[in-house]
Amino acid sequence: MNTAETEMQGKTLVVSGATRGIGKAILYKFAQNGVNVAFTYHKNEEEALKIATEVHDLYGIKAKAYHLDILEPEQYMELYKQIDCDFERVDFFVSNAIIYGRSVVGGFAPFMRLRPKGLNNIYTATVLAFVVGAQEAAKRMKLVGGGAIVSLSSTGNLVYMPNYAGHGNSKNAVETMVKYAATDLGEFGIRVNAVSGGPIDTDALKAFPDYAEIKQKVEEQSPLKRMGNPTDLAGAVYFLCDPAQSAWVTGQTIVVDGGTTFK
Ligand SMILES: NC(=O)c1ccc[n+]([C@@H]2O[C@H](COP(=O)([O-])OP(=O)(O)OC[C@H]3O[C@@H](n4cnc5c(N)ncnc54)[C@H](OP(=O)(O)O)[C@@H]3O)[C@@H](O)[C@H]2O)c1
Repeated sequence: MNTAETEMQGKTLVVSGATRGIGKAILYKFAQNGVNVAFTYHKNEEEALKIATEVHDLYGIKAKAYHLDILEPEQYMELYKQIDCDFERVDFFVSNAIIYGRSVVGGFAPFMRLRPKGLNNIYTATVLAFVVGAQEAAKRMKLVGGGAIVSLSSTGNLVYMPNYAGHGNSKNAVETMVKYAATDLGEFGIRVNAVSGGPIDTDALKAFPDYAEIKQKVEEQSPLKRMGNPTDLAGAVYFLCDPAQSAWVTGQTIVVDGGTTFK
């Protein structure tokens, strides 16, 4: 175990939406490095409980799952009160969860079919959930002399993706919010950044009607000739949280896209 890993041991990560995909990979990355994890699920309670048991047994860390609906960002206030009871400190917050299915109707659509309700839902789940989750995290981080906050973003705000206007627009907004948060929280030793991913092979992407087409295009476009995996993003998130590696990085978006955006 190296010095960087040791510096992370015994700290606590709060991560939203860690039952699968990128959030799950982030949870495992931190747990493997001795970080305790407080994480959220929405529908998959059974899977969440399984994950909590598994990472505790494998890595000897504390892990607990909590219910959260990011369409109701104020739920973060009650959630953090529960976390206060179960964990000694909060050092890292990763805003990862994303809505899908019925709640994105009118948001995940071609421009002429966009509707205010769907767009508002995506904005609420992406930007407002980040704001409230990060505010509550920052209150706790101030008590321990600092911490790191990361929002997931996506290169759908840099390159066109069919139906992605609502998400791409909200990802732009959250990246801007990250810069404001970083500016206001720096004096407390809290760094705030975003990780923007190109297309990553997850359930969320498999739900796109043109998934097969996207996969083929990414494999052709990427100089690395493959799609991204959840672990590709987890590494960047971990880097941005580890003070031994990124102590002077704040207000940034790191793009992890397999080289696809430039082509
Ligand atoms: N996949 C990509 O290509 C890609 C690329 C770049 C960036 N990203 C970003 O990475 C993040 C994770 O994406 P992903 O692909 O890993 O997603 P995913 O596999 O669909 O997982 C979504 C997670 O969010 C939770 N969730 C769903 N609805 C929720 C709600 N209303 N309230 C609270 N939690 C809810 C789910 O919990 P349950 O399972 O319990 O319902 C699940 O844990 C997102 O911010 C996404 O925009 C994804």
